[in-house]
Amino acid sequence: MNFIITTPLYYVNDKPHLGSVYTTIICDSIARYKRLRGEKVIFITGVDEHGLKIQRTAINNGVSPKEHCDEISDIFKKNWLEWNISFNKFIRTTSQEHEKVVHEFYEKVKSSNDIYMGEQKGWYCVGCEEFKDNPDNSPSYKCPIHKKNLEWKNETNLFFRLSKYQETIEELIQDPEFIEPKERRNEIINFVSKGLKDFSISRTNLDWGIRVPDHLNHTFYVWFDALLGYVSAISSVDKSSSLDISIKSGWPANLHIIGKDILRFHAIYWPAMLISAGMKPPQKILGHGFLTREGQKMGKSLGNVLDPEILLKKYGEESVRWYLLKDISLGSDGDFQNRRFVDIINNDLANTIGNLLNRTTSMSRKWFNNQTPSISEKNNNEIITLSNKSINNYLTYFDMYKIDKASNEILNFAINVNLYLNKKEPWSLIKDDNNINEVKLIIYNVLEATRIIGTLIKPILPEFSIKILFQLGENDIGNTDWLERLQWGLLPESRDLPKPIPIISKLDYE
Ligand code: MSP
Repeated sequence: MNFIITTPLYYVNDKPHLGSVYTTIICDSIARYKRLRGEKVIFITGVDEHGLKIQRTAINNGVSPKEHCDEISDIFKKNWLEWNISFNKFIRTTSQEHEKVVHEFYEKVKSSNDIYMGEQKGWYCVGCEEFKDNPDNSPSYKCPIHKKNLEWKNETNLFFRLSKYQETIEELIQDPEFIEPKERRNEIINFVSKGLKDFSISRTNLDWGIRVPDHLNHTFYVWFDALLGYVSAISSVDKSSSLDISIKSGWPANLHIIGKDILRFHAIYWPAMLISAGMKPPQKILGHGFLTREGQKMGKSLGNVLDPEILLKKYGEESVRWYLLKDISLGSDGDFQNRRFVDIINNDLANTIGNLLNRTTSMSRKWFNNQTPSISEKNNNEIITLSNKSINNYLTYFDMYKIDKASNEILNFAINVNLYLNKKEPWSLIKDDNNINEVKLIIYNVLEATRIIGTLIKPILPEFSIKILFQLGENDIGNTDWLERLQWGLLPESRDLPKPIPIISKLDYE
């Protein structure tokens, strides 16, 4: 069985911002965790390239939409590789494979009698690519998300019969597992209870899109097209890519991770479209919160957009990963604060975990011939109990996608091991030869605890994990035996330890 996880397909109106990096990092850590748990993962990301927003951006930049999309899509792909994102599929909605799947899907929805021609009148936000309520019915009313004026549209479009799926969707969203977190689910339940309206799935005055086969003056509405990218991605490297291959390869998706602003599309429109085509809805939609910077919404007009490339160059991907995954609870809004960022990296990674490893391997090398100690008794001590408890909690939290809590389990374990070391004071005990066995046990326990920490942290900080384990004389561990590697006592006795080097440098305030 495949585990299919997706990021949203990002608009190519601009290069990745911190919000897109945030979503992608969350998916990456879940994909890595699932692989470590033995699942065959298909991790899908990609770009959403059609629509009015992209067409206008290209025109403003003086290039053709195709040229513009090629350039920005490449930047996205390159960026994800720089961020060490372990995606398996990168889908472009302008690809031929995708277009084929959109056509096949359209035929299925049509044969369910869910497509008809109608009049679309309303206020449109090009930023959201969505019709919006305009309570004042005034041209100066602005989209609450993009703070831009809405545009009046009046067209003859193809419609999708969403209203037919009122009860089906009501039933689906009753399942507490389907939309998380709870607050997001409640928003959707509330919206659906007001009655679902059919929505238009084509445009007549827009060239930059996939042509509707039986209405060639129409292009598909960008959201109808883009959501299908999740399906076409699955068979996208297959030369004969098709809806059927995607279904056979494991559709439905197990998890769509998205921001709260695009929840309706994923939790209502998308499942209804799929059910209409005779396909299964996704299993879970997880809506994360928004990132702000120093307490303020990030926006180009505010001039406070945090460029992820600068963060990456300055601090490296793993520091940013730790901050975003450990400090922000998935589902809540999060704030990026420079001082806090520096404090967290220095305290958690450099002082608590890095130092623990560094000073203990140094002591072990100094007292035990550059090796791990040999001991007579490995079992029954407070650190084993603590380790097993932390591992259990960590696994439970990760299974619920509470990555912040899982990360804090690792950190708290490391804090407690530091306390143990300080309480036991092996550096004082070693002065008396009679204490040698006790010192050996203490050092072994701490080294073994750091091995567990290095193993647990792997899906969150893959490179940091390798560095920790290397300092303990371990090679990179594969995906297969990760869970077994969490058993206490696997660190070999009398193993050569490499010369300690700091695994992370401390950061300075700006
Ligand atoms: N193209 C659509 C998605 C189609 S999926 C089939 C889209 N793209 S987007 O590029 O505008 O947004 C992508 C994701 O970034 C969304 O999940 C959105 O919530 C997220 N974010 C945009 N700004 C954000 C923050 N400031 N903070 C966190 N995430 C935010 O929507």
